Amino acid sequence: MKPAAEVTFTPVEILTRSAKVLLVRQYAPTDLLPLVAMYRVFEPKRVAQGLPPPDVPRITQWLDQLQHKSRALLVWDGARVVAHAILCPISDAAVEFTIFVHQDFRRIGLGTALTRLAVAFSEQCGFAEVFLTTEISNLAALRVYRRVGFHVSSSFGEECEMKLVIGGSPPRQVPVT
Ligand SMILES: CC(C)(COP(=O)(O)OP(=O)(O)OC[C@H]1O[C@@H](n2cnc3c(N)ncnc32)[C@H](O)[C@@H]1OP(=O)(O)O)[C@@H](O)C(=O)NCCC(=O)NCCS
Repeated sequence: MKPAAEVTFTPVEILTRSAKVLLVRQYAPTDLLPLVAMYRVFEPKRVAQGLPPPDVPRITQWLDQLQHKSRALLVWDGARVVAHAILCPISDAAVEFTIFVHQDFRRIGLGTALTRLAVAFSEQCGFAEVFLTTEISNLAALRVYRRVGFHVSSSFGEECEMKLVIGGSPPRQVPVT
């Protein structure tokens, strides 16, 4: 992974299928409180490998730990955080991806758009592979991940691991003039 100071996400707007314009930008420590506010009312709790945690103390603790070891993108509707994408390095080449979209903002293409932005940001950060784990019963998540290009790499019980190789193609040959 390139050092955090070297790579920054350029804020971008998303136009949803419901014609809402939302702002995506990289998480900063000052965003902790609005992010906790999203998770306080997020439903259902514990939907993805026990996350998000069920109450504010555990949400705060989880997010505090995350900010030391991962990078994240937030989606804003005005002053309100409505989605959170987490990129947690698992090696120099691979990153683990997790996404949470507030229930009021689902099924309008936001999860797909944010996943695409997170994959592009992973590539910008120098990663070659993005991994994730999801429950095989999470049909919305599977639909998003497949649409973005993830494939199942292994499965275990009720869960599967999915993988997307990025930056895997050889550099394009540019003719020397
Ligand atoms: C999974 C999640 C991120 C998807 O976000 P989203 O903003 O709703 O995603 P999109 O709108 O881009 O796409 C969702 C797709 O799943 C479809 N979908 C939703 N629920 C579905 C279901 N129960 N069965 C089948 N398809 C479903 C939607 O119709 C949509 O498909 P379409 O665009 O072809 O209509 C969101 O549902 C979420 O945050 N869930 C709770 C947390 C979670 O499970 N995170 C994943 C951790 S692995």
